[in-house]
Amino acid sequence: MNIKEVIKENATLADNYISKALPAADEDFKIIFDAVRYSAESGGKRIRPMLTLEFCRMCGGADEDALLLATALELIHTYSLIHDDLPCMDNDDLRRGKPTNHKVFGEDVATLAGDALLTYAFELIASSNLSDSVKIKAIKALSYNAGIHGMIGGQVMDMLGEKTPLTPDGLYKMNRLKTGCLIKCACLFGLYAAENTTSVKESLYADAEKYADGIGVSFQITDDILDVCGDEKLLGKPIGSDSENGKTTFTTIHTVDEAREIAKKLTSDAKSAISGYDKSERLIELADFLLSRQS
Ligand code: IPE
Ligand code: IPE
Ligand code: MG
Ligand code: MG
Ligand code: MG
Repeated sequence: MNIKEVIKENATLADNYISKALPAADEDFKIIFDAVRYSAESGGKRIRPMLTLEFCRMCGGADEDALLLATALELIHTYSLIHDDLPCMDNDDLRRGKPTNHKVFGEDVATLAGDALLTYAFELIASSNLSDSVKIKAIKALSYNAGIHGMIGGQVMDMLGEKTPLTPDGLYKMNRLKTGCLIKCACLFGLYAAENTTSVKESLYADAEKYADGIGVSFQITDDILDVCGDEKLLGKPIGSDSENGKTTFTTIHTVDEAREIAKKLTSDAKSAISGYDKSERLIELADFLLSRQS
């Protein structure tokens, strides 16, 4: 299988698991269940679930454990996108090739759908069959990386960067937080899932974080480049949203070519961090694939 086929196969595994894991509707307030499913089942590349699955497999863990943690994280990622698209944030109308959640359900329900996904992710982990020690590690990593020290902090820097341009260091930090932190959590989740049934080499925790740091920032740089030169049909979201909102991005303080070079260097650092481990090939191919992605 080539890497595109592996990504597709893993995305199907994640799609199926997510659909089964979502809560059954209460008919008295069905609209929120519909709004949650609308975004959670709308595809997406499922790159974060793939990272969890492949790190878990690399350590000899079980897919079932990886999929549980991957689902919790993907629900949080989905909530971050629903809120990111709201008129008070990036004000975007298209996501994953469909109208954004608030366009279909209204801003009130979309806000609550994000809240529901965030909370339900923790419910899923807490009520799973994973060992207590794995649950606690996962909840700690997820709350830290999705919260004020991680993704939320990055989103606030992104917002501040609309009014006052960020410095290059500030921009790097923003991307590490708003995008890198959930990607780091996805990689760590693969190791924690493996811990449920086997032992994980100690050095891998730090090296998985190094890999995640490289591909995380690189992922956002590519996202910024695609916002300038991408194809809306392939991307499934609007082009030009960043410039409309006056954002500081890798393409406002660098040329597109410079931004590509930075992404390449970060990807190369990421690959070096894990290339010494057995069965790291897929993660290495994934890092390269993400550099050239068009969606
Ligand atoms: C979009 O993430 C938001 C960023 C952090 C750049 P993805 O590009 O992974 O979005 P989906 O999940 O595939 O829609
Ligand atoms: C969003 O970054 C990152 C999140 C934490 C949601 P962007 O605002 O660039 O993501 P897109 O381009 O809307 O997917
Ligand atoms: Mg944004
Ligand atoms: Mg956005
Ligand atoms: Mg973007």
